Amino acid sequence: MCSKTLFSLFFALLFLGKTAAQNTISIIPKPVEMQVSKGYFRLEKNVTISLQNSALQETAQLLRLGIQQIRPSSVSIKNSTPNAIKGISLAIDSNRVVQKEGYSLAISATGIKLIGHDAAGVFYGTQTLLQLIHQQGNLPFVQIKDYPRFGYRGMHLDVGRRIFSVTFLKKYLDLLALYKFNTFHWHLTEDQGWRIEIKRYPKLQSVAAYRNETIIGHKKDSPHRFDGKPYGGFYTQEEVKEIVAFAQKRHITVIPEIEMPGHARAALAAYPQLGCTGGSYQTATFWGVFDDVFCAGNDSTFTFLQNVLDEILPLFPSKYIHIGGDECPKVRWKSCPKCQKRMQENHLKDEHELQSYFIQKMEKYLNAKGKNLIGWDEILEGGLSPKATVMSWQGEAGGIAAAQQHHDVVMCPESHYYLDYYQSLQASEPIATAGFTPLEKVYRYEPIPAILNPTEQTYIKGIQGNAWSEYLVSEAQAEYMLFPRALAIAETAWSPKTQKNYDDFLQRLRLQEKVLKHRKVHYFDRYEEIQARFQTNSNGSESIYLTSSLPNATIRFTEDGSQPNTQSNVWKDGLSIFKPTLIKAQLFDKNGAYGQVWEQWVNVNLATGKSITFKNAPQTPYLPTDAYALSNGIIGTHRYNTGQWIGFRGEDLEIVVDLGKSQSVQEIGISILKYHWQRMWEPTELSFWISEDGKAYEKVGSFKDFPENAINTVSLKVPNKTARFIKVIGVNKGTIPAGEYGAGAKAWLTVDELFIY
Ligand code: ACM
Ligand code: ZN
Repeated sequence: MCSKTLFSLFFALLFLGKTAAQNTISIIPKPVEMQVSKGYFRLEKNVTISLQNSALQETAQLLRLGIQQIRPSSVSIKNSTPNAIKGISLAIDSNRVVQKEGYSLAISATGIKLIGHDAAGVFYGTQTLLQLIHQQGNLPFVQIKDYPRFGYRGMHLDVGRRIFSVTFLKKYLDLLALYKFNTFHWHLTEDQGWRIEIKRYPKLQSVAAYRNETIIGHKKDSPHRFDGKPYGGFYTQEEVKEIVAFAQKRHITVIPEIEMPGHARAALAAYPQLGCTGGSYQTATFWGVFDDVFCAGNDSTFTFLQNVLDEILPLFPSKYIHIGGDECPKVRWKSCPKCQKRMQENHLKDEHELQSYFIQKMEKYLNAKGKNLIGWDEILEGGLSPKATVMSWQGEAGGIAAAQQHHDVVMCPESHYYLDYYQSLQASEPIATAGFTPLEKVYRYEPIPAILNPTEQTYIKGIQGNAWSEYLVSEAQAEYMLFPRALAIAETAWSPKTQKNYDDFLQRLRLQEKVLKHRKVHYFDRYEEIQARFQTNSNGSESIYLTSSLPNATIRFTEDGSQPNTQSNVWKDGLSIFKPTLIKAQLFDKNGAYGQVWEQWVNVNLATGKSITFKNAPQTPYLPTDAYALSNGIIGTHRYNTGQWIGFRGEDLEIVVDLGKSQSVQEIGISILKYHWQRMWEPTELSFWISEDGKAYEKVGSFKDFPENAINTVSLKVPNKTARFIKVIGVNKGTIPAGEYGAGAKAWLTVDELFIY
């Protein structure tokens, strides 16, 4: 062996040794720098925390509590010079740690030394330490240097649709702190309930805080069903103070959101004179966007909202106050004499400018009180208020536009950071809002859009995960949807972009489960379940690739509809399917079956693998996964963003399939997704055509009726016909009608699975 090889071997071993030690340590979010060395520090039963600075008392108390919650210990806190005792020392030194909120943590034979740039930095160091104590009896010798990537690291919770207990909120805040979030966006008012006590307006408590009943199941279900039970409640100002103080000790700022001008049905139920029509109104009992909003022409609307803010501001030290601003239909304003008069007097050219007028008026009020306004990206409509911060939720477009105008931005795109979306494709998942947003997708999101120049990029102040509570029917269900996806957001918020690596994150997450279990978090623990990828072949077959990130695991499967067991065939790489087949697969590791059975009906048919031409191209985000997605035999499900459903925004569907040669065709069919609340509309007409030469087409039938509020599959028998070319035309609804979600915008025509037998 030459010396060069020996040399490499030496380094390879050194590297292996180091990785092995690091592999037993799980810190989320991943620290900026971490060096593990040989040896362990034993944290005795009697622990002393010494403080260099009395400003750290609070943090020391919380550290004591944290340690005692993990293991029986007697923890004493002393005001003394660090280094004096073999215990934990806490200090602030902004020269030694220069980054805001940053810290350095050293665990060695002489003890645990934690230095923060500021009190927040020390606090984050203690959260890292608690994660280590949770996982290890003896603490590994380690040197950590750490600081955040973003100054705004937020999580949100909607308490309007469901109210959550103060106990739950504290548990949530504690978990947010553990993962180094520094902002809690508290969505306090909604159509379905006003949740914060405003003493000046007692009907907000007696009327707006309650609804007569609540919809059962998903809002797409038709007809709507209700539970018949009154529901409601609110947080008293004393409770609010308690939550804010609890958060503050954990270096979390609570941003209150008071929704305006939309999502105001509950407030209008209490004070109908604030609406354009004067009512009557009821607190909403189902989910959606409602036409009745605050009247922008009525001076008493502004007086009311300013009086509300006068009670809100003293409760929340936050610099930011969230005023909502999203999803405000303009239907009522269009026909309201007061709103129209306001527009005339202020030379506002349309209702969007009236919305902008509304928000600017509130911004002036907040600014005069020393506060900054933050709102959802619809506050861009009709012109952004001078100093507003934008929360970009409808994708990134709003955030990009705001950053280009040099306004601060928080990125929370619905596509990646709405944690009320499904995290599994399993049919048995508890009802969730929509779509499919698995852990990996959340983790891989990069919040700084490449389209922004370096100056504009500096306006992206951070990120936030949102938890809308329509389907968070219990506190356990809220935890299930939030965790572990919130940990993926935490890592993007804190860790350097260059440190992010999904496999490495998973490795740490597996160890972190111990922490979540200890804290009794009802988290989603199947994040390593089977994932599928499909590929269509030009020979008309469909190839399926199943994978899982679960270490040392085997996938077993059946093709005859039976349940897979430990004797079933082992899945190897890909499987090609030539005829309609039901595949079932199950993941096994040393503990037995992991997760649920994965199953897929693969409906291979004459269209599979045949070339399809599109007159109009599908549009983002409903793009096909590949050229054959429309006819791959994989039928799109209610989780409509997996690449199976393809969409045309404001444009018609017109496709032609070339079967390659003239042949007998007996049946043609296709599925349409009708979700008006996602702007997906059925075509006004869907027609099927056949041809031998691709020029002269015969219309063989058409449909105008799509009754299901979901997937509508239509098919047509074409007896005694031969054809080589099949054409399908779907006429787009065009503009979304007034009174519907997204009124005035272009409708999506969303289709999948063309099949031909
Ligand atoms: C939102 O999801 N309407 C902000
Ligand atoms: Zn009005």
